[in-house]
Amino acid sequence: MNEILFYGLTSRSCFRPQRSLGVRWRAEFILPRISSLASKRLVSKFSLGCWALHTTKQFANQDCGLLTLSDGRVIASYCWAHPGFFRYPFMATQDLQVGKVFTHPDYRGNGLAAAGVSELVHRCTRPGRTIWYLTSKENPASIRVAEKLGFELRGRGGIRARWGTQALGGYEINIAEPPSRSHLAG
Ligand SMILES: CC(C)(COP(=O)(O)OP(=O)(O)OC[C@H]1O[C@@H](n2cnc3c(N)ncnc32)[C@H](O)[C@@H]1OP(=O)(O)O)[C@@H](O)C(=O)NCCC(=O)NCCS
Repeated sequence: MNEILFYGLTSRSCFRPQRSLGVRWRAEFILPRISSLASKRLVSKFSLGCWALHTTKQFANQDCGLLTLSDGRVIASYCWAHPGFFRYPFMATQDLQVGKVFTHPDYRGNGLAAAGVSELVHRCTRPGRTIWYLTSKENPASIRVAEKLGFELRGRGGIRARWGTQALGGYEINIAEPPSRSHLAG
């Protein structure tokens, strides 16, 4: 089974914002509306899923959106923030998850994903809210992005299939990491 690492960020004091984007890249926060997604050419299975869950109020709260980094010509990197729903039973009502972090292959290794997630965390942090970041253990670049920003490893686990399919399954933490002091500080 593909092991999933569950990273969390609760305390502001743990957050290590990344360097500013420089003059070329501009961050834009986009709400999950079909018109906005279509105008940015960001209609995908994932974005349609976020739009549908947001619109039908299946998410645990209403804070959902997409952060893009663009130079006005290309979107080089993007990442979503979305609340929990039935697939993420470990998330509290107010929590968010950073999802679908992506940098175009031509622009990787320049700190864009870290800068984008940093901007997203900055916008979405609230007292008592945990921002989750889930990644495969086999994805060192993604793990590095989470750790650069100060996300703490909270546990390891995987997806438990439901009705014979992983697509409807729930993410489970099977091995919890001991809580750090900063995590408890809130
Ligand atoms: C993961 C991904 C978003 C990273 O994007 P990026 O813009 O290159 O990320 P950054 O430049 O901010 O950071 C990447 C870090 O990983 C490091 N890295 C890259 N490949 C690595 C590898 N094979 N082993 C170890 N570290 C690696 C980079 O050196 C960099 O760290 P540094 O800043 O300390 O040098 C990008 O690789 C991607 O889109 N992958 C496909 C989609 C994906 O897997 N998304 C994550 C799902 S949770």
